[in-house]
Parts: sequence; C-alpha cells; structure tokens
Amino acid sequence: MRIAISTGGGDAPGLNAVIRAAVLSARTRGWDVLGIKRGFAGLLGEDEIVPLTADSVRGIAGQGGTIIKTTNRGSPFAYPILQPDGSYTSIDRSDELVENARNLGIEAIISIGGDGSLKIAQQLQSKGVRVVSVPKTIDNDVAGTITTFGFDTAVNTAMEAIDKLHTTAESHDRVMVLEVMGREAGFIALHAGVAGTADVILIPEIEWELDKVCEKIMQRDASGKRFSIVVVAEGSKPKGGNESIIGASLPGQDRRLGGIAERLGYDIQRVTGKETRSMVLGHLQRGGPPTGYDRLLATRFGAAAVQAVADKKWGHMVALQSPHLVTLPIEEVLRETKRVDPKHDIVQSARMLGISFGD
Ligand code: F6P
Repeated sequence: MRIAISTGGGDAPGLNAVIRAAVLSARTRGWDVLGIKRGFAGLLGEDEIVPLTADSVRGIAGQGGTIIKTTNRGSPFAYPILQPDGSYTSIDRSDELVENARNLGIEAIISIGGDGSLKIAQQLQSKGVRVVSVPKTIDNDVAGTITTFGFDTAVNTAMEAIDKLHTTAESHDRVMVLEVMGREAGFIALHAGVAGTADVILIPEIEWELDKVCEKIMQRDASGKRFSIVVVAEGSKPKGGNESIIGASLPGQDRRLGGIAERLGYDIQRVTGKETRSMVLGHLQRGGPPTGYDRLLATRFGAAAVQAVADKKWGHMVALQSPHLVTLPIEEVLRETKRVDPKHDIVQSARMLGISFGD
C-alpha cells in the first residue's frame, strides 16, 4: 500500500503530530508514505513529493507548523495562475493531479485541513481519488467533531494574552480590547474570554451594540473597577453593521477579516471617555507547540486516519464524538455549519457571571 499525506489551509498547532502518527501507524503496517508538499502543489509539479519515514517524523509531535508545508490558495480545482499583467486567473488542474497520483502509485490520500480542504477532498473523491480527511482548524468550526486540534492551543494563547492585558489594564485604569481569530465562529473568543475572565465578549453569533458594551464598562467603573477587558472575535459585527475586512486577499483565498478591535477601541474611548487600547493577537494563535490536549487529539486523529484507510472508508473524515473517535462522510460534514450556540451553557454561565455579550 502506498499512501500520501497533504496539509492544506492555514496551519494549526498539532499538524505535525497528525503527520507523525499517520506515518508511524502506516509504517507499522508496512505501507509506504509520501508527503505532498504545500497543499496539493506537490502533485501538480509546483513543489515536491517527499518520502515520509519514521526518521522524517522523529521529534516533531511537539512542533508547530507542518513539515510538509501548507497553503490556503492552492485548490487543484481553481489553481491560481499569475498573468503577465500581474492579475490572476484560475484553472481546473484536477485531472493533472489525478494522473500524477496514479503515476506515483498513490492508492489513497490523507488530507488534513479545514472546510476548504474538506471541499477539495470531496471533489477529489468524486473524481475517483480515494481520500480520508482529518479535520484541522484553530477556529473549531468544522461540523461533526466536538473539537479540532489547534483550537485548545489557540485558546490557551489567547487566554495568556488576556491574563497579561489584565495587569496593564488595571495599572492604568484602561480598557483593553483584544481581537482574536475565528472567522465567522466565536469559539476562540468565547472560550478564551471566559477562561481569561474577560468583562465583555463579542462574537459573530451574537450581534452587539456599542452602547451596551459601554454600559458594562461604565457600570464596572462606577463600582470601582476602573479597567475592563473586551475580547472581540475578528468576524463579529455590531447590530446593523458590517464585519471588518482588511486588505486584499490573493486569488483563491477567503476575504481577510481584521481591524474590528481598533474600530471598537476608538468608539469605546469616544463614548465612555475612558482611555482605551486595542491589540490584534493574530497569527500568534496559530504558532508554537500544541498543548498536551492538541497533541493527543492530533495523534489519535493521525492513527485513526490510517485505520480508516485500512477500512476503506473513502470520502470519510475522522471526528471526535467523545469519548470515541468516529468516521463521518465528508458530504455530511459539509452540509452542516458549526457555530457557537448562543444558548450553550458556556454562554449562559458567562452571563450568570456578569460577562456582557453586548446584547
Ligand atoms: O482559519 C484559520 C485562520 O487563522 C482564521 O482564524 C483567520 O481568519 C485566517 O485563518 C487567517 O488566514 P491567513 O493566514 O491567510 O491570514
């Protein structure tokens, strides 16, 4: 048996632990493993195909990033092509990929990625490529699995940032606004905000009003707590307003969210008169070593993906449905959207503790 592994989309702490677990589990069965570099670029002649052995994955379980690299703009179904005038167009190169995979004797692909990679996996599957997927995202927005590896690490990074902001906010009697990642899902903001004891948490799933946010800050002020911590998810938006989009994305990429903290910080200072500072945590949330939880989950996912290949679960994704790992048809996963449920106990508990959602 010869299998290949691909990592696609934004990196997430734990990718290397998945690769390691998949390679070691496959080698135990005597299978050959290839690494497709940079998403699927390696299978399109745009990057390398490398052999993955026990030696190549030694010592990587605790390392962030991915040893086979990744990209969030390399779908073989809409591959970006730079034109002489600097603009981009995209072409379908999937047939080329299928032929190259066949020529290399690749019998199955383990594709590790988020929603975008799952869509590509599904499309490849319908072209006859045998694919098993492993869900990956710090945003925790893949349906069918209770969580994805990378999320816990991102939450811890954001929580540590909130802890640090607390001391400076309190010393200066300031409002600190922290912007965290998550796209249209507020999981990182919610979990890190509650764990870090933020005063206001703003997520895309709950539309908020500036006046309500300021009311909370002024209530705290009146009770002698002259500082406040506001955690805002990058994709959240005020009632009747728009999400904050920065810069231009390259072709094939999603729109880039960001800048909400600065806008909000400015508005809070204008309305409350309180000195306010904002910061964007950004890609720090994607870097560094995975937490123990993420390493373990990633390791379980890697081994389960190889088992799914052995069981011929083509077109399936491995998933955590505690306490078990299961496999689900990718088609089914893609039909659902996973977002924070405003009625979830974490939101309810936060409200009971006096945390404001700005609504
Ligand atoms: O999906 C993961 C994620 O980190 C999002 O939270 C964020 O919006 C996006 O990727 C950033 O992508 P990029 O690395 O392309 O800026």
